[in-house]
Amino acid sequence: MMKAIKIDGDALVWETCAGFEELPADSVEIDVVWTAVNRADLSQRAGVYPPPPGASNILGLEVSGRIARVGEAVTTFKPGDDVCALLTGGGYATRVVVPAVQVLPVPKGFSLEKAAALPEVFATAWLNLYQEADLKPGERVLLHAAASGLGTTVIQIATAFGNPVFATAGDEEKLDVCRKLGATGTWNRKHGSFVEAVKKWGGVDMVLDPVGGSYIKENQKVLSADGRINLIGLMGGRFAEVDLGLMLMKRHRLIGSTLRSRSVEDKGRVMQALYRNVWPLLVAGQIEPLIDSIWPIERVEDAMAHVAANRNTGKVLLNIGE
Ligand SMILES: NC(=O)c1ccc[n+]([C@@H]2O[C@H](COP(=O)([O-])OP(=O)(O)OC[C@H]3O[C@@H](n4cnc5c(N)ncnc54)[C@H](OP(=O)(O)O)[C@@H]3O)[C@@H](O)[C@H]2O)c1
Repeated sequence: MMKAIKIDGDALVWETCAGFEELPADSVEIDVVWTAVNRADLSQRAGVYPPPPGASNILGLEVSGRIARVGEAVTTFKPGDDVCALLTGGGYATRVVVPAVQVLPVPKGFSLEKAAALPEVFATAWLNLYQEADLKPGERVLLHAAASGLGTTVIQIATAFGNPVFATAGDEEKLDVCRKLGATGTWNRKHGSFVEAVKKWGGVDMVLDPVGGSYIKENQKVLSADGRINLIGLMGGRFAEVDLGLMLMKRHRLIGSTLRSRSVEDKGRVMQALYRNVWPLLVAGQIEPLIDSIWPIERVEDAMAHVAANRNTGKVLLNIGE
């Protein structure tokens, strides 16, 4: 038996449910110690972001914890190893089963708590900056929702790899944090359009945009020739005006991207790239996940309300075990 958060009408209930019997040969079972609240969990709970076919319908896109069992084809982990994992679902639970390629060892010197802040946002950052947009050193990035769990990660990774970041957020204190993490330009979205401020900063080669809606045509105004807009969320709405003239003449590319719906192989590729390129920076202390707050799983409602109210700067973690 295990425990998991069940969505029961408007309520979230921490209740006992059946555990996993069969363990696929390529997978591991993890005793979960920490999970995290992602914006996507709010959308799933609201019924507008269902899990992909075959995935767990339990909330939770990442965990840290200890390996409990390994499938017969798994050679990379053994029971007792401290790990963190990127999930397609199922993290708000005491146990989870996940393909081993989506699991990484906790970076040396990291607690399980700190490691829980890594998988989802680090994988999303790497996938979009260096795989989808294929940023070259020196190329410049406009980042919206920059003080989010994802944003605070993107600022640090992009800066470490030589890509200057212009950050937008909705609060001066959040923008202070963005500057401390490495952003060299900032704009408070509550003060109107970011366009003039980004132009003054020198324009950008890529926009990482979880907003969509009215932001798309504004993004185009500050985007260089061959610029990329990676659309990764719809916080500002799903319909947008696109300047096709600019798109054509400046060879703009609009790239839609979700991590969750990708195949196990794709997710594995991103995790291995993180392990090679970013884990050493974490171990060296050059990059640090920013943790906003920690909550016991029994207070998951409060943790989600905190995120829904845009109060977090960085990651919001849920404690499940010891
Ligand atoms: N496609 C993917 O694979 C993928 C993966 C991970 C995350 N994401 C997306 O990336 C975003 C960040 O994720 P997260 O979990 O790190 O988020 P988070 O910590 O919950 O932060 C989201 C922030 O977005 C800002 N915001 C809210 N509504 C907005 C609006 N209408 N316009 C502009 N900004 C708004 C708020 O900050 P301010 O008020 O300070 O601006 C809020 O704190 C989310 O949209 C998420 O869905 C996508």
